Amino acid sequence: MSAKIIDGNALSAQLRGEVAQRAAALTAKGHQPGLAVILVGDSQASQVYVRNKVKGCQENGIYSVLEKYDASMSEAELLARVEALNNDPKINGILVQLPLPPHIDANKVIEAIAAEKDVDGFHISNAGLLMTGQPLFRPCTPYGVMKMLESINYPVRGATAVVVGASNIVGKPQAMLLLQAGATVTICNSKTRDLGHHTRDADIVVVATGKRNIVTADMVKPGAVVIDVGMNRDDAGKLCGDVDYAPTAEVAGWITPVPGGVGPMTITMLLVNTIEAAERAAHG
Ligand code: GUN
Repeated sequence: MSAKIIDGNALSAQLRGEVAQRAAALTAKGHQPGLAVILVGDSQASQVYVRNKVKGCQENGIYSVLEKYDASMSEAELLARVEALNNDPKINGILVQLPLPPHIDANKVIEAIAAEKDVDGFHISNAGLLMTGQPLFRPCTPYGVMKMLESINYPVRGATAVVVGASNIVGKPQAMLLLQAGATVTICNSKTRDLGHHTRDADIVVVATGKRNIVTADMVKPGAVVIDVGMNRDDAGKLCGDVDYAPTAEVAGWITPVPGGVGPMTITMLLVNTIEAAERAAHG
């Protein structure tokens, strides 16, 4: 058996078309959506991510500002910038790219973002709203994964799902979204003993650990949906995920490639969240 591919680029293109239409409708009423992206430091990976986020805005009619600061920026200076953006009516979404330099308390910065502009969905009140089934913003990567499952009409209700990875950015919110959609969810992590024991039982496996080949073909149930959130480099320097792709694709029913899977969806869902924030701000 050979898995069908869930094409994140194709699904993104379709969703971005809808984003552009909603952005144009808001702009026509004098409420162009706006996103502010803050990058502190010069991490190569973060530079690429923020550039793509801003490009996504520009291509779809969302106003964007990119604020880049030296790694020596103080926590107080960053908090002051967040506060200024909280009060800027042109800005509907604020994203502070993580990780931050070690002298800055990331939790403190995230809590400083106005919850109604927290398009990452990382603020403690947004995490609480998600957990209690009243999400305001769904964190972008797990939201994108849910859209991918929706795109193949996957019956999540009643399905068995294993999330490998328990970060605040992906694993934990992913588990909440799957649970709310009616799945029976197990959360594993990179230290789980006998990971395959859990994943082999799953109809849906979402992998987000940052560990290459942590999921291999023998750990996947024939026909399962395998969603790979990982973003690593192989020995040849080529981009790869957390799943041993080619052999696993022989066993799975559906699989997401890296690149071209979850990656583009994350940015697309950031654009969707920014539109949602702008629509709320415009309509009350
Ligand atoms: N770093 C890695 N992923 C993310 C994300 O989704 N949002 C932010 N702000 N930083 C990140």
